[in-house]
Amino acid sequence: MASELQNHNKGKLRGMSVKGWIIYKVPENELNETHYETKRFIEEAKLMDIELEIYSPNQIEIIVTREDKRSIFVNGQVVDLPDFVLPRMGSGTTYFALALIRHLERLGVPCINTSLSIETVRDKLYSHQILAEKNLPVPKTMLMKFPIDIELIKRHFTFPIVIKTLSGSLGKGVFQAKNEESFMNLARIIEIANPNINIILQEMVTDSHGKDLRVFVVGGRVIGCMKRESSSDDFRANYSAGGTVAPYELTHAIEWLALEATKVLGLDISGVDLLFDGDQFKICEVNSSPMFKGMESCLEVNVPSEIFQYVMTRFQWGH
Ligand SMILES: Nc1ncnc2c1ncn2[C@@H]1O[C@H](COP(=O)(O)OP(=O)(O)O)[C@@H](O)[C@H]1O
Ligand SMILES: [Mg+2]
Repeated sequence: MASELQNHNKGKLRGMSVKGWIIYKVPENELNETHYETKRFIEEAKLMDIELEIYSPNQIEIIVTREDKRSIFVNGQVVDLPDFVLPRMGSGTTYFALALIRHLERLGVPCINTSLSIETVRDKLYSHQILAEKNLPVPKTMLMKFPIDIELIKRHFTFPIVIKTLSGSLGKGVFQAKNEESFMNLARIIEIANPNINIILQEMVTDSHGKDLRVFVVGGRVIGCMKRESSSDDFRANYSAGGTVAPYELTHAIEWLALEATKVLGLDISGVDLLFDGDQFKICEVNSSPMFKGMESCLEVNVPSEIFQYVMTRFQWGH
């Protein structure tokens, strides 16, 4: 694998342009050209002379052989390997997509983020286990088990309580139960629908009701910090769910938390969600492929350019 990487680097030194892939499942109702993040990556790649292709995992096949070299097919045709890959599927990374990223890694193609870190943060409980082990502040979290032991839950949590799917984004799998009755109603529905489903219960960090921070990290640096606020009385602050965004001063404490969380989870690029807790913060989640329309709308930051510059610097490809 090392020699494969050296070959990539040698090629760049001879002045060839850098080739990158983004692996992204663009929602069916959005074409590549109209999808904000994809459009921005394409624009910035052009300016930096990076040959960029956007692929959905559906277009790619992998075949595992001993002679690995020509084992990736796009739309049925063997293709040359790119110099780097940006997997951008986040919590929607399927088993197939993970297998594809692992395959590219085995072939020596740098994937930023790595398959391991994407798999780790796709699971909110597992990420919290790692963060807590490293002594980083996380909301108290429990894996739901059926039948529900409500007495045990009441001993450790107070209402309102947050209920989340293990994996998810855009605030879609995040709910709140205001009291025991609504919690038990929700739990009963979940149990009947699928008693084997993995759901987490979480302490509601009340100071953060309807607001939180999003910190964007690229290559060991914070490139942006903003406050998100929901525009209704919803406790979720996601921009994609209709919230508003505003710049927020990056303190040493925020910077340290975001960088440390990103590092212990093994990510190179991340979006760290921080919950307000008095004058401190708790880590809500860490995203492996954060969206950035909201951040670019309120901060003077060029996210795809930061990401490409990081990749170019890291592999010493020059501009
Ligand atoms: N324990 C919590 N206490 C207070 N607010 C929370 C808590 N967990 C989530 N939220 C709110 O809900 C939003 C979505 O939760 P999150 O776990 O980040 O899910 P998603 O992956 O869908 O963004 C957060 O940005 C935050 O505003
Ligand atoms: Mg989130």
